[in-house]
Amino acid sequence: MKTLGVGIVGCGNISTIYMQNMPNFAGVRLLACADMRPEAAQAQAAKFGIDALSIDALLKRADIDIVVNLTTPNAHFEVGSAALAAGKHVFGEKPICVEAAHAQTLVAEAAKRGLKIGCAPDTFLGAGGRLAREILDSGKVGRILAGSCFLMSHGMEHWHPDPEFFFKPGGGPILDMAPYYLGALVNLLGPVAQVTARTSSGFAERLVTSEGPRKGHRITVETPTTAMAIVSFAGGADIVFTMSWDVWKHGHPPIELYGTEGSMRVPDPNFFGGTVEYTERGGDWIVVDSASKPFGKPNWRSPNWAPTLPNRANYRCLGIAELASAAARGTPHRASGALASHVLDAMHAILESGRTGAPVAVASRIDRPASLTDAEAAALWTGPKQ
Ligand SMILES: NC(=O)c1ccc[n+]([C@@H]2O[C@H](COP(=O)([O-])OP(=O)(O)OC[C@H]3O[C@@H](n4cnc5c(N)ncnc54)[C@H](O)[C@@H]3O)[C@@H](O)[C@H]2O)c1
Repeated sequence: MKTLGVGIVGCGNISTIYMQNMPNFAGVRLLACADMRPEAAQAQAAKFGIDALSIDALLKRADIDIVVNLTTPNAHFEVGSAALAAGKHVFGEKPICVEAAHAQTLVAEAAKRGLKIGCAPDTFLGAGGRLAREILDSGKVGRILAGSCFLMSHGMEHWHPDPEFFFKPGGGPILDMAPYYLGALVNLLGPVAQVTARTSSGFAERLVTSEGPRKGHRITVETPTTAMAIVSFAGGADIVFTMSWDVWKHGHPPIELYGTEGSMRVPDPNFFGGTVEYTERGGDWIVVDSASKPFGKPNWRSPNWAPTLPNRANYRCLGIAELASAAARGTPHRASGALASHVLDAMHAILESGRTGAPVAVASRIDRPASLTDAEAAALWTGPKQ
C-alpha cells in the first residue's frame, strides 16, 4: 500500500499525541506541521523531527497527501476548506466545524474533488467500540429500545492551559464532548431522527486554575454548560443524553443500552479500549474486556489524572490510518465527514431545542459505517506488539 504524506495544521495541546502515535500506523508518514503561531510549529517540529512550515507552504507541499486539522473549532472550516482546495485529503479534530451548513459544504466539496474528509472521534474504531458493535450486531441484547448516556464533569479550566474557547459559542460540552458519545451511538444505532432538550449554564464565570499564562484569568460563560436531552434514533431507540461541565461528581456509566433480550454497557468512547458488559435478559452482567484486541491495550494516562486512575487506551491517528487505507483501496472510510456532519446536525438540534423548548427534527441521514474487523484493525498498526 502506498504511504501517504501527512501534514498537521494546529500545534497545540492535542497535537503531541498525534505526533507521538503517527509513526506506529501503517500507510501514513508525518512530514511537517504548521500553526498560525510559528513558534508552536517550530517547537513541535524540533521535538518530532519534522519540518515546520507556514500554512501556505504546507498546503503547497506535493508530498503531503493528508492534512490533519488540529486547530480550534472556529478555524476548522477555514483550514479544512483551504486543504481541500489544495487537493489534500483532510482529517480533522472534532467537531468537524461549528456551523452545520459549513460541515455540509466541506463534505460536498471533498466529494466533488474526489478527496476524503474524515473527522475525530475515531474512538469507535478502537477495541472497545468494535467489541460493543460485535455484541450488539450478534443480537445478544436484541433490538435497542432505550438507553442513557452521561458525560459530566466540572469543566476544563482546571487542566487546559488555554480553556477560553470551551466556554464560548462553538465550545460547551455539547459541541466539544457530544461528538464522542453521539458518534459512538450512531455507530451502534444508526442516525438520529429527533431531539428534545433543556440547556443551562450553571456558572456565569469560570476561573482558570490550570498552570500557565492564563492562570487566574476569568472567563465569561457564553454557551450552555449543561444539556439534558432525549435523543430519538430513526431505528426507534430513545436515549436520555446528558452532557455537563457543571457537575462535581456522579455515578452514571457513560452509555447503557436496554434491548429486547438484555442490557449492555458500552465503554467510554473518550478512549479506544475498555470493557463491554451485557446481560442475557435479567441475568448477571457478563464482562468482556477488549484489552487483548487490536487498539485495546491501555497505553496512556493524562498528566492531569489522579494517581488512582488507571491508564487508558489512546490510539489517536487510527481514523487517519483507516482513511489512508480506504483512499488506497477506493473504499468508504469510517470516521467520515458525513458521519461528523450528521452528528453536528444532532448537536445543533440539541442546542436549538434547549433554546426553544420544542422538539427538533434532524433532517440528515447516514448509514452506520461498516464494522471494522480485528484483522482489518490490526493491519493499520506497525508499532510495537500491543
Ligand atoms: N486538548 C485535548 O485534550 C483535546 C482532546 C480531543 C480533541 N481536541 C480537539 O482538538 C482541537 C484542538 O484542541 P487543542 O486542545 O489542541 O487546542 P489548542 O488551543 O491547545 O491548540 C490549537 C492550535 O491551533 C492553532 N490555530 C488556531 N487557529 C489556527 C488557524 N486558523 N491556522 C493555524 N493554526 C491555528 C493555535 O495557534 C493553537 O496552537 C479542538 O478541536 C479540540 O476540540 C482536543
